[in-house]
Amino acid sequence: MIKTVATTPFTDQKPGTSGLRKKVRIFQQPHYAENFVQSVFDSLEGFEGQTLVVGGDGRYLNREVIQIVLKMAAANGFGRALVGQGGILSTPAASHLIRASGAFGGLILSASHNPGGPDEDFGIKYNVSNGGPAPEKVTDAIHARSLSIESYHILDAQDVDVDTLGASRLGDMTVEIVDPVAGYADLMEQLFDFSAMRAMIAGGFTLSFDSMSAVTGPYAVEIFEKRLGAPAGTVRNATPLPDFGHHHPDPNLVHAKTLYDQMMAADAPDFGAASDGDGDRNLIIGRHCYVTPSDSLAVLAANAHLAPGYAKGLKGIARSMPTSGAADRVAKKLGVPLFETPTGWKFFGNLLDAGMATICGEESAGTGSDHVREKDGVWAVLLWLNILAVRRQSVAQIMAEHWATYGRNYYARHDYEAISKDRADALMLALQDQLTTLPGSINSGGTIRSADDFAYTDPTDQSVSRNQGIRLLFEDGSRIVFRLSGTGTEGATLRVYIERYVDQTGKLGLETADALQPLVRAAQEIADIQGFTGMERPSVIT
Ligand code: G6P
Ligand code: ZN
Repeated sequence: MIKTVATTPFTDQKPGTSGLRKKVRIFQQPHYAENFVQSVFDSLEGFEGQTLVVGGDGRYLNREVIQIVLKMAAANGFGRALVGQGGILSTPAASHLIRASGAFGGLILSASHNPGGPDEDFGIKYNVSNGGPAPEKVTDAIHARSLSIESYHILDAQDVDVDTLGASRLGDMTVEIVDPVAGYADLMEQLFDFSAMRAMIAGGFTLSFDSMSAVTGPYAVEIFEKRLGAPAGTVRNATPLPDFGHHHPDPNLVHAKTLYDQMMAADAPDFGAASDGDGDRNLIIGRHCYVTPSDSLAVLAANAHLAPGYAKGLKGIARSMPTSGAADRVAKKLGVPLFETPTGWKFFGNLLDAGMATICGEESAGTGSDHVREKDGVWAVLLWLNILAVRRQSVAQIMAEHWATYGRNYYARHDYEAISKDRADALMLALQDQLTTLPGSINSGGTIRSADDFAYTDPTDQSVSRNQGIRLLFEDGSRIVFRLSGTGTEGATLRVYIERYVDQTGKLGLETADALQPLVRAAQEIADIQGFTGMERPSVIT
């Protein structure tokens, strides 16, 4: 029986960089999740009888919201729902399932790398039929609809058993509970040389993978331990937990410190990696050698042809604007185009669909390719392992050779978290006011050549995205970028991205902090960060 429930709009349902993310308590308000899901459905056309993919990273509220989504999908006329067993689907696996099943779209329940639990974060993201996050015109329509919604449709029915594989009926809709891992793992076997990697591991190569008690556990155990033969226990924190074991499932040097310490110890394994809450991010650390996400993108692009799935070479490389220019040098050498997009994976989708780019990456620990339409943590780890199996060198040797070939982009991101929205906006406005006066000025970082507010015109549909971050470009190729995060759930986060390029003949072995110090000072002064935020130093440096 379909119920139509009267409701009133919530004014805070604007999807951010990656869907709607809020505190669990906000999602628990009566009608809150329902309003948003109905706003999504109301913004779509032609899904009658079609397939919807549903799954999440297993965080607190995942199971409850899956039931709501299924009952609403049935009431709104979807013909079939595909749900990962236990409500589990990593974001890249969801993207793959949408594509492989010819689904109309998918709802992914996750707040990515944000913590989970009753006092933490939850999120809902809509992905379209190419498997990628909804483009801005769709998310704008969802937001507009959320502001005028008056009712939603939901089936009055028993909860669906999402733990047992197989099909059942929910009203006029079929619900299929599917293995969340198998299809994804098969796709990985098509792209990478599993026998070469198996041989490398059998030959004594050691690795350590931290699933951070989040969604990649089952994927990593199946792929690294079962299919590649790494010993049991190679994957740590392999069981997805609703609160991620009280950890912050963000694979960076702060939150994956255990892995970092292990990789820096005397008896470190050859290779270490971690992924985030929903499995789309990656952290790569070789034995005694941390690889920045921007460098990782460059190395993967330069060596991708060593893996069977990319043996034909790359069509192009895409990176988000704040990501370092390391990949640009690889693109130049390969003679393929380099695209610079705003932050957010959704901007890569059109380039991948149009066959203009093959590999994409972001400074925020995301790398991926045209195999799905999301970034993919396990994929990045496998591409690294495939490269290591072919080159038979250590991560440190590969990095040293890379810099000796292309030069090195020293890079860091400084985050100032939980500042008030007003102050963050005022800081950005003050920077905007300086855009005309900064070019030609000299500071501790050098001479500023140009300053602008990044805008992007999508080459496939000419859509324009403005105000994507303030860029200060220096005469020597150094760069400072200021932007406000689009994924926070409380207050504002100022991100300052600092980059200095040293060519092949320069000093390639400096400590990053030392190499960047003069630019860091310049950034603090130009933006008057302390004046606006009251903070003397960033809360996180990655
Ligand atoms: C998510 C998105 C990425 C983005 C990252 C940081 O992971 O999928 O595309 O780079 O968040 O976004 P933010 O707006 O917080 O800097
Ligand atoms: Zn994520």
